[in-house]
Amino acid sequence: MKFTTLFDTDQGTVDIVIDGRSVQVPKGISVAAAVLGSGLPYTRTTPVSGTRRAPFCMMGVCYECLMVIDGKANQRACVTLVRDNMRVEVQQGVGPGLPEIGHG
Ligand code: FES
Repeated sequence: MKFTTLFDTDQGTVDIVIDGRSVQVPKGISVAAAVLGSGLPYTRTTPVSGTRRAPFCMMGVCYECLMVIDGKANQRACVTLVRDNMRVEVQQGVGPGLPEIGHG
């Protein structure tokens, strides 16, 4: 599925890095919108099975959009607005710096 943004770039753009790739996105959009618009189909993997997850509610409720933003894990991408030079990474499991969940 290809996502496109309804925002135009007349208000300006910001440069961010999504999973190591530099992209230019419209000012004022959410990180989740930027990620989906960039073509990256998921934002995190689950801690137990590693299943890929993507933004669902886009309003801060479901927590499916957790990402590592500027080095900080567990940030909801749908309620975080892009900023110039922001670094966004797919969150693998619980994210960096947190203990893994045991399997038995
Ligand atoms: S997409 Fe549901 S909390 Fe972000």
